[in-house]
Amino acid sequence: MSLFHTPYAFFVWLVTLLGLGVPTAAPPGVPSHYSGEAQKLADPNYGPIPGLSDHYSSYWGVERPFPGNITDPVFPTEVGPPAEDDHTWQNLLSAEWIIFEFYQQGIERFTDEDFVKVGMPNNTRRRLMEIRNNEAGHLRIFQNQISPTSIKPGPCKYNFPLQDPRSYLAFMSVIEISSMAFLTGLVQEAKSVSAQGAMAAISQTETRHEIWALTEIWKVNPFAGPSDTVFPYANQILYSTHNLIVPGSCPLENPEYPHPRQLLPALSAAPDTKSLAPGATITLAFTDKDNQPVFDPHTQYYAVFFHSLLNVSVPIDTKGFPGRPIEATIPDVFETRGVIVALIANEPGAPTKESVVAGPAVILEQPVELGPELVRGGTN
Ligand SMILES: *[C@@H]1O[C@H](CO)[C@@H](O)[C@H](O)[C@H]1NC(C)=O
Ligand SMILES: *[C@@H]1O[C@H](CO)[C@@H](O)[C@H](O)[C@H]1NC(C)=O
Ligand SMILES: *[C@@H]1O[C@H](CO)[C@@H](O)[C@H](O)[C@H]1NC(C)=O
Repeated sequence: MSLFHTPYAFFVWLVTLLGLGVPTAAPPGVPSHYSGEAQKLADPNYGPIPGLSDHYSSYWGVERPFPGNITDPVFPTEVGPPAEDDHTWQNLLSAEWIIFEFYQQGIERFTDEDFVKVGMPNNTRRRLMEIRNNEAGHLRIFQNQISPTSIKPGPCKYNFPLQDPRSYLAFMSVIEISSMAFLTGLVQEAKSVSAQGAMAAISQTETRHEIWALTEIWKVNPFAGPSDTVFPYANQILYSTHNLIVPGSCPLENPEYPHPRQLLPALSAAPDTKSLAPGATITLAFTDKDNQPVFDPHTQYYAVFFHSLLNVSVPIDTKGFPGRPIEATIPDVFETRGVIVALIANEPGAPTKESVVAGPAVILEQPVELGPELVRGGTN
């Protein structure tokens, strides 16, 4: 039997003999391609604490604020089954990395003057920093909500519409309103009532961000009527963000995002859409060329539109697809405010998540003019 079981053991012996020092090993349970630095985040008391520290409001650096500056996944520190809401918090943390990076990259990309030049207030970038800081606080809150037996996912690489400040801010409005909408669904997935309360509180923060954009950036009435839109299938909205993620860029150890997921074809309105207001007839576009819907010729399909606490279903003609495009009219009964979530289902009302066959698409109704602009940008 050889003295050294592996060439590595020989290497360690040699560097020790030569007094060069052994390369430091990552802590147990951490794959060796990570430094182990991120494991400090496993302690909820490490770093600024959301709600106690003003770091998550008033940090004015351009560099990533904590914990956004520590990007490795955090590996479990205890062995055991996951806690009941771990999957939901992991989904939320992975989604939050997208949102945090959206603000961080905007702050790096644009100057104060860039926003002023397109007619936005001179404190726009400062507000975006403040929002970014809140989102960093969400990262930390979600990390702390995931139990020690589950991995806390790290960020991937993302593609955002950063070409000009106006489309960036338009996309911001969709990000905030989508966050609000998927939180109304994630709240329904959470088992513990304290998790439900925490998610309701986070959705309020996203709404405050949206209200700022509506009043200060778009200069419109910020109210969305008596209720925002409830959408029950949150993971479907989360999955619809996958086009923002650079394929293959996520840490290998990250859990599937979102989990569980249905891999539904992406739904949008056609690029030549003039209006996405209630009453407008639109041509449906399925924007992922590698994931197109397949319609059964004997099934009646519906475009289902969710707004406020209601949904309205419109039968669609799928015969001849993909040769013949599919049209649908957005129900004119809806108030032109807030957001409409649209999907294609094989039953009216999309009563189960399995009845959904494509989508959802988040349609911004406030300001309503931004809807078609976002579709042209290929981001809706
Ligand atoms: C991350 O940011 C915090 C607070 O801004 C700072 O104290 C810490 O040193 C940074 N860590 C890394 C790894 O950059
Ligand atoms: C920023 O805009 C506000 C309100 O329009 C104005 O009062 C203030 O002087 C401006 N500040 C700078 C530095 O331009
Ligand atoms: C849509 O509304 C109908 C009743 O109008 C309801 O039965 C159905 O569950 C709703 N769909 C969802 C997904 O909430």
